[in-house]
Amino acid sequence: MLAFRPIPPFNNTVQYAALAPAIEAAVREVLASGQYIGGAQVQAFEQEFAAYNGSAQAIACHSGTDALVLALRALGIGPGDEVITVPFTFFATVEAVYLVGAQPVLVDVEPHTFNLNPAAVAAAVTPRTKAILPVHLFGRSAAMDAVGAIADKYGLFVIEDCAQATGALYPHNLQKVGSGPHFGCFSFYPTKNLGACGDGGLITTTDADLAQRVRELREHGSPRRYYHTAVGYNSRLDALQAAILRIKLPHLDTWIAQRQAIARRYTALLADIPGLVVPADGVGHTWNQYVVRILGDRRDAVQTALQEQGIRTIVYYPLPVHFQAACTDLGLAPGGFPVAEALAQEVLALPMFPELTDGDVVAVAAALREILLG
Ligand SMILES: Cc1ncc(COP(=O)(O)O)c(C=O)c1O
Repeated sequence: MLAFRPIPPFNNTVQYAALAPAIEAAVREVLASGQYIGGAQVQAFEQEFAAYNGSAQAIACHSGTDALVLALRALGIGPGDEVITVPFTFFATVEAVYLVGAQPVLVDVEPHTFNLNPAAVAAAVTPRTKAILPVHLFGRSAAMDAVGAIADKYGLFVIEDCAQATGALYPHNLQKVGSGPHFGCFSFYPTKNLGACGDGGLITTTDADLAQRVRELREHGSPRRYYHTAVGYNSRLDALQAAILRIKLPHLDTWIAQRQAIARRYTALLADIPGLVVPADGVGHTWNQYVVRILGDRRDAVQTALQEQGIRTIVYYPLPVHFQAACTDLGLAPGGFPVAEALAQEVLALPMFPELTDGDVVAVAAALREILLG
């Protein structure tokens, strides 16, 4: 057995150390300003993010989950409406649909991209369908040209779950995810490619009226202080998080390039191992996660063997949404989404963060090779 130093799945302390003087100065400035919620820092971050993303409007909020809820609410989606999304995602995607009282309608994903299968989307449209909610899983854009065509054909809204894919590009036109015609919903949870030091989220849209509706909903449904036209939410971004995100945003493309280089290196080192499937590369993939498939029923044993060598990996996601105890109302039996169900058995996310060293990448690949072939 090879002996390595511990390799974590994710590490944000190196990034913090590199930016500490700037972050600490910005934090001190906010503390001294007395403006802790909303205000100039939040507005500046919204403008800078909109410019970065090529989006006309950006509205910051408390979390990626809230971004999805606010987008659904702003479009008037609620009881009696159906929203098409995927069973292979973080639970928040589907949770947001439940939270507005709408019905999630799940469609299977593609084995090579882990993203929604457009052919399955078209087959799931009913007269009650209001929106398609594609997830850009692990940092790779879903097939948005195909999704857009289906949405146009049936008059549906599109709400993109960009939580894992800040900075990713649509392959068909190389624009940033969330710059399309409806809503993009982003998360700044600390493990994301652009991570805050706490919770944070943001909604993008090209439509000024929808943006205004989101702004009101995030502030208790109030267009003007103490006047409420809808029952909304308290979903504001803290000035401290905005200030920190403003320090980090100019570095995002460099970090994405580092992730892309690490992904290429992993793939070169792992592609020939029988029983292991490397993730497909794609234009504009930002590699929030590098997720291999360990075919058959060996995944958990492989994860344990890596752990014994100090290499920590994560299973995103061990249980598809339709098997969650919270979703028994969907009444979906095993076998309904064979790709999602197989992925849940086989996926393994290898250590991935911009500062991961080449030595660590080589060590992870060597350990995997030894475990799988040894
Ligand atoms: C695909 C997906 N959607 C939504 C969310 C929710 O984001 P947040 O944790 O900021 O609420 C996450 C993040 O964890 C996610 O990965």
